[in-house]
Amino acid sequence: MAKNSSLTAAKSAKEDEFYTQLSDIEKELKHYRSHFEGKVVYLNCDDPRVSNFFHYFSYNFEKLGLKKLIATCYKSQDIDLFSEHNTEQAVYLEYEGDKDGDLVPGPNEIGIKPLKGDGDFRSSESIELLKQADIVVTNPPFSLFREHVAQLIDHNKKFLLIGSQNAITYKDVFRLFKEDKLWQGYNSGDMAFQVPDHYPPRETRFWVDESGTKWRSLGNACWFTNLDTPKRHEDLILYKSYSPAEFPTYDNYDAIEVGRTEHIPADYDGVMGVPITFLSRYNPDQFEIVGSDHEVKDGLLPWLVREGWTGKVDRAYLNGKRMYARILIRRKGAPA
Ligand SMILES: C[S@@+](CC[C@H](N)C(=O)[O-])C[C@H]1O[C@@H](n2cnc3c(N)ncnc32)[C@H](O)[C@@H]1O
Repeated sequence: MAKNSSLTAAKSAKEDEFYTQLSDIEKELKHYRSHFEGKVVYLNCDDPRVSNFFHYFSYNFEKLGLKKLIATCYKSQDIDLFSEHNTEQAVYLEYEGDKDGDLVPGPNEIGIKPLKGDGDFRSSESIELLKQADIVVTNPPFSLFREHVAQLIDHNKKFLLIGSQNAITYKDVFRLFKEDKLWQGYNSGDMAFQVPDHYPPRETRFWVDESGTKWRSLGNACWFTNLDTPKRHEDLILYKSYSPAEFPTYDNYDAIEVGRTEHIPADYDGVMGVPITFLSRYNPDQFEIVGSDHEVKDGLLPWLVREGWTGKVDRAYLNGKRMYARILIRRKGAPA
């Protein structure tokens, strides 16, 4: 296929089959052990035959003191998938821990039950399983991330999910950050995922390993959760002092530009524009999220537009230059 048409095909196909590596799951999950004791964990986008989330929770069932593990396997529309979905029948699995003393989740200990529908996380059957669950952990389809999070919030569930950092800029997801209903976990940045054989090659962030397995990676993957972590209460060490020369006020917003999170001045009381990567270091005891540039654009923060400004407000501008996406923050406890 010509380079262009192959890229277009890759873009237009809904490519949801990105399989999370066990090492990435372990690296994040080790920080949340205390949350899982006595809990029902639901993996609602996970084919247990290939999901390392299922592997992690079934093999660590006793160590975590889980009550029950449930996984639903979404029926594939495509017979040629890496996950070898070879049946039209979607299934769900229940595991209640080791019974025969070998501490290995054996076939006789894992209950496999058919579903009437296709295992879509939005189906009534999946919602019934969700109701039993305390914590949902998965890497949901990127294309349905918004809906996936919204469902968990509606059902008042705890969760730990992988997504793209771009999701932070989705209005409804950002609002959850602002309302302290969701935050970033420990790890973010580069993450590699195994993908099905039929996925087309790409110019970047794609490779085939020596065993012929195809891989894709994201440079901006991150974990989203509403499980509290010590990290979230660690103060960012601030070592800079405010000066108008180093932290100029935007042309259009009543806020100063702070190009790097670690440069946030310790002594500035007003509103500051910071990159969205700030959220990976956000401690709600230290800072308040005032809003974002898209909220200014939507007219939700009129008091942030500089008096007399009649130009664009779609982004922060500095000396006529449109800035990257900015989150607007203020030091907690700063005099208004
Ligand atoms: C990004 S992959 C991740 C798979 C697995 N959770 C993991 O981390 O390895 C998303 C998975 O969700 C499944 N899926 C797609 N649409 C779904 C839906 N509506 N409901 C449930 N699962 C879905 C896909 O088949 C795919 O296996």
